[in-house]
Amino acid sequence: MTTARPLALVTGASTGIGAVYADRLARRGFDLVLVARDGNRLADLAARLKSETGAAVDILRADLTVAADLARVEARLRDDPSIALLVNNAGAAVPGGFEAPDLDAFERLIRLNVTAVTRLIGAVVPRFVAAGAGAIVNIASVVALAPEFPLGIYGATKAYVLALSQSLQTELGPKGVYVQAVLPAATRTEIWERSGRSVDDLAGVMEVGDLVDAALVGFDRHETVTIPPLPDEGQWQAFNAARLAMLPNFAQSQPAARYRG
Ligand SMILES: NC(=O)c1ccc[n+]([C@@H]2O[C@H](COP(=O)([O-])OP(=O)(O)OC[C@H]3O[C@@H](n4cnc5c(N)ncnc54)[C@H](OP(=O)(O)O)[C@@H]3O)[C@@H](O)[C@H]2O)c1
Repeated sequence: MTTARPLALVTGASTGIGAVYADRLARRGFDLVLVARDGNRLADLAARLKSETGAAVDILRADLTVAADLARVEARLRDDPSIALLVNNAGAAVPGGFEAPDLDAFERLIRLNVTAVTRLIGAVVPRFVAAGAGAIVNIASVVALAPEFPLGIYGATKAYVLALSQSLQTELGPKGVYVQAVLPAATRTEIWERSGRSVDDLAGVMEVGDLVDAALVGFDRHETVTIPPLPDEGQWQAFNAARLAMLPNFAQSQPAARYRG
């Protein structure tokens, strides 16, 4: 008797972190739906993974900043009951801050890094909740925790992905759905050249295979937040504990004494 392989949908699978997720998931026994704009690269990866792993691999060419394309990916997530894992990986950065802002580029980035991530989660979660199972991996970034980094609105989009993942895990964890936020630091992929920077100018750049393999260790442990490059996990735990310690103090009928005249 053969057991059906679970299906994972990976966005931004044509290169970089997403392509390595596709590779690792195929080797873990998943069939795949690969999403990105570059159909040739997706086809090459699909052919390699089929021959090396025996996985069934579908290609869904889509520009996730285009509403009609995004809707096709949403429909696949909504309607295909074999999809058990969504990897929200597609993302980009844009250079520049607010002194000479390219507002159209900012909006396109928000569509990719924020809107598409949100809509794809919204498409799949009702089915996962009904099944009492399913997993979502959201690729955020350490700059979600470092708004001082001079990366324009990129860090803010990744802070959204981190906060959304934490909130979803609280909401959906008790219903059998696992949500993980992965926070890479600088990783050797095309994202740097695509956003007008050279990865060779940076120190402490992680190789993409190491990043994904570490993120999958965090996935297997069902971590809510996985920060592959952080040596001391206690620093994250202390940061999180300090944040949580504030929460009971927010409900006050009066402003804090320092704000009273
Ligand atoms: N590399 C790093 O240093 C680093 C650090 C922290 C977080 N991250 C995050 O990791 C994720 C993956 O980035 P990466 O480093 O692997 O970047 P990458 O090598 O540039 O790959 C980005 C992927 O997203 C796809 N993509 C880009 N725009 C798209 C669009 N409009 N519609 C659909 N797909 C689109 C690209 O494919 P097509 O061009 O074929 O569409 C590609 O497959 C991103 O969310 C990024 O923010 C990366």
